[in-house]
Amino acid sequence: MSEVSVTKDATPVADALVVLNNVNKHFGALHVLQDIDLTIARGEVVVVIGPSGSGKSTLCRTINRLETTDSGTISIDGKPLPQEGRELARLRADVGMVFQSFNLFAHKTVLENVTLGQVKVRKTDRKTAETKARSLLDRVGVGAQADKYPAQLSGGQQQRVAIARALAMDPKVMLFDEPTSALDPEMINEVLEVMRQLAADGMTMVVVTHEMGFARSAANRVVFMADGKIVEEARPDQFFANPRSDRAKDFLSKILHH
Ligand SMILES: Nc1ncnc2c1ncn2[C@@H]1O[C@H](COP(=O)(O)OP(=O)(O)O)[C@@H](O)[C@H]1O
Ligand SMILES: [Mg+2]
Repeated sequence: MSEVSVTKDATPVADALVVLNNVNKHFGALHVLQDIDLTIARGEVVVVIGPSGSGKSTLCRTINRLETTDSGTISIDGKPLPQEGRELARLRADVGMVFQSFNLFAHKTVLENVTLGQVKVRKTDRKTAETKARSLLDRVGVGAQADKYPAQLSGGQQQRVAIARALAMDPKVMLFDEPTSALDPEMINEVLEVMRQLAADGMTMVVVTHEMGFARSAANRVVFMADGKIVEEARPDQFFANPRSDRAKDFLSKILHH
């Protein structure tokens, strides 16, 4: 995986799954994504880091079309992102997303949270969907909580349910936007451990995180963003040992020595 080469002119990468080509986005006068070229190979784990406000969340949100773009193209598995309707719902299922806030349905049980999308979007029959939901809940270590409501679970448990819910759709790629930032410290590892396992199982993942230990141990590539641009990208060992840009050096000195 580590020898997958990504070039600025978007030369095809072997087995590319997510391809962003010259993507630009503005929020009013703010040029929040600037000429973004990023190709993610099947099975690759990309960790995106950078200062607050650099466009990391917006980047994730454009990949499942929670945000539109102004120019450039994004494709998943060779197909451009659909604009609307049923195709868009399917895209959102293919691109699983886990947010900082857990975003579970508060008035549905844990089991229902992980069953619902399978029935509605994937048209799986309820019994099959529930069986799969239980097996995924076991896999992320919260099988015993299946009949509870989200508010009855700890933050770490809720986030693992959110991961199971996304996985239930058999996504092609999983996006994680600071999945542990809202958690109490003692719950961070139980979520990172589930993500590490997922990475080891071959899931294609884009992970925005400040957890540098995770980046070192699980990422194939680190992408460093600042001011709406990809400033630098490298293998984690190279990036942490020898960041090339001043922006990255400055950022790392702030987060590694506080
Ligand atoms: N919906 C929005 N409307 C206007 N500005 C936004 C919106 N979402 C984000 N921004 C701005 O875009 C910039 C990048 O935001 P974001 O992608 O959330 O950065 P990050 O996730 O790296 O902290 C920030 O300056 C933010 O204030
Ligand atoms: Mg963000």
